[in-house]
Amino acid sequence: MLDIILYVLGNVILAIWLMVPAYISNPMAVVFGGGKPIDMGTKWLDGQRILGDGKTIRGLIGGTACGILAGILQIYVVAPAFNIEIVPTMIAVITLSFGALLGDLVKSFFKRRIGFVRGAELPLIDQLDFVAGAWILTYIFAPVWFNENFLLSPPIMITVIILTPILHRLTNIFGYIIKLKKEPW
Ligand code: CTP
Ligand code: MG
Repeated sequence: MLDIILYVLGNVILAIWLMVPAYISNPMAVVFGGGKPIDMGTKWLDGQRILGDGKTIRGLIGGTACGILAGILQIYVVAPAFNIEIVPTMIAVITLSFGALLGDLVKSFFKRRIGFVRGAELPLIDQLDFVAGAWILTYIFAPVWFNENFLLSPPIMITVIILTPILHRLTNIFGYIIKLKKEPW
C-alpha cells in the first residue's frame, strides 16, 4: 500500500514540477490581463470577434514572462544536483509558457466560431486547452526533451491530464474569491 502511495505521490510531484512554466503563465495572464485585446476588436467573417476581449496583449506577454521566470528559477534550483541540458530545457521552458497561452488563444478562436461569448464555460476544454498548447509547442521545438520528460512517461502525462482540471478549478475559484476573475471557472 505504502509503495503505491509513494508512487502516486512521486508522479504528482514530478508532473507538477514539469508543468510549472505552464501552470504559472496561464493564471498570470489573468493577473496581467487587460488593455488592448490581441484581435484589436476585429471581427471574423461570421460577425463575431476573432478572439474576444478576454485575450489581451498584456495578458499574453505578462503571463509568458512569468512562466519563463519560474522555469529559469527551476533550472537554477536543480542544475547543481542534476545533470540537465540547459539549452533544450530552456527552450522547453519558453514553449511550455508561451504554448500554454497559445493553446488558450486557439481555444478562444474556436469558442467564438461556435457562438460562445467571452467567458462562457466549455468544460474540460477550458481546463486542458493550455496543456495541449504547451505540449504541442514543446513537442515541435524541443522534441528530445519532450520525449524524455513526457512521451516516454505515460503515467506522468496521465497524471497531468487528471490533475490539471482539479488544480485549474481550485485556482479559478480562488481567483474569483479575490475578485481577479469574473467567473469561477
Ligand atoms: N487574459 C488575458 N489575456 C490572455 C488570457 C487571459 O488578458 N491571453 C485575462 C482576461 O482578463 C480574461 C481572463 O484572463 O478575461 C480569464 O482568462 P480566460 O478564462 O482564458 O478567458 P475568458 O475571459 O473566459 O474568455 P474565453 O471565453 O475566450 O475563454
Ligand atoms: Mg474563461
